[in-house]
Amino acid sequence: MAKNRLMTRRRTVMLGLGLLAGMGFSTVTGGLKQLKSQMLALDVQQRVKQRTFAVAGNAPLRDRATAKKLLYGAAGEYRTLSSDKEFAACFARECAILVPEGELKWKALRPGPDQFDFTKGDWLAEFAQTHNMLFRGHTLVWHEALPKWFADTVNKENAEQMLLKHIKTVAGHYAGKIHSWDVVNEAVFLEDGLPDGLRNSPWLQLLGPNYINMAFRAAAAADPQALLAYNDFGLDYQDQEPKRVAVLKLLERLKSQGAPVQALGIQAHLWGDNSRNFNPKMLKAFLRNVADLGLKVLITELDVSDKNLPSDVSARDRIVAAVYEDYLSAVLEESAVIAVLTWGLSDRYTWFDWADSRKRADGLPVRPLPLDRGLKRKLAWNAIARTLSQTSNR
Ligand code: G3I
Repeated sequence: MAKNRLMTRRRTVMLGLGLLAGMGFSTVTGGLKQLKSQMLALDVQQRVKQRTFAVAGNAPLRDRATAKKLLYGAAGEYRTLSSDKEFAACFARECAILVPEGELKWKALRPGPDQFDFTKGDWLAEFAQTHNMLFRGHTLVWHEALPKWFADTVNKENAEQMLLKHIKTVAGHYAGKIHSWDVVNEAVFLEDGLPDGLRNSPWLQLLGPNYINMAFRAAAAADPQALLAYNDFGLDYQDQEPKRVAVLKLLERLKSQGAPVQALGIQAHLWGDNSRNFNPKMLKAFLRNVADLGLKVLITELDVSDKNLPSDVSARDRIVAAVYEDYLSAVLEESAVIAVLTWGLSDRYTWFDWADSRKRADGLPVRPLPLDRGLKRKLAWNAIARTLSQTSNR
């Protein structure tokens, strides 16, 4: 019965492809792309429908992770955690580590060139402490989320002093309270075509490639206890091997320069449709190479886009859950992986709501996270719970 329905939908998609093929090229490319995604989604749907996502017991994710000497947590915001009590309680129940989604970025902390405003960051640090959660820092050096005054104020003459002062003040302010810092975020971007695959960021333009090394040294001096991480996206799929190679080379270079980099943060913003091939073998080989450099690995921003998945909620949730399960069961095989954080906990609050690249064409609300908008556990939650429970002790 279900198979017949799938075949009918497949035929409808094929018919759509045929119709589009008869139309003008420029008008159909977008439609073809969409139909291709739908076909891939149907294939995934077929493959995941046998999975049960059964979970033993009711224990929250934090307990399941802690039992394996792992950490589970999520990104949270002052705006939501301070105003939504039900959500905040849920967050504290499920998470053993909190990372501010935006409150520790330059834009939030630096109202002016000589000013620092720690109000919201401090509130979150205290929230974490009150609820017995660890606290991560995100992020000391990034090309985005810079304050408006940055471009007019920072120049080649004062950039080093500005960078060092920022790191000294911010990492110094939270010293002793931070589990790990994303010291530098997203410094590799092959599309810019620069040597070593480095991103053409304001920091590179102002200070040259040594800004990364400089940032790690400053962070270590300001907070000798925090685990210092380099964090990046685009490291997950088969076709992202060139980026994995570039990031590995960056880490090797940093180590050979004596920079105190201690961990790699893998963002893991994943896709529910199967348009990007997931190759667990390649990913695990990369993780091993990173571990061989003596580095820990954190999955720092995990979520799964349901942008190109069917409208039907149960089909969608099933595919998203399968992506979580496949990804986590692969990465957790690597003992250097010490933490998994999702980028948000509940679909009630997700960056997808203001990112055009993640919105659904049918206008339906997105469902990328472990809990739904009503804070009920979804199959994605089950998938994370299962992989945490099945993984071996660190
Ligand atoms: O709060 C306002 C809201 O009132 C308004 O309705 C809405 C519409 O524009 O904007 C909201 O502000 C947004 C803010 O996030 C809320 O926290 C900003 O527009 C938006 O630019 C900002 O985006 C953040 C983005 O980083 C840039 O700092 C996202 O929340 C945050 O999830 C995202 O996080 C990044 C990581 O730092 C690095 N890795 C990728 C990840 C996702 O893009």
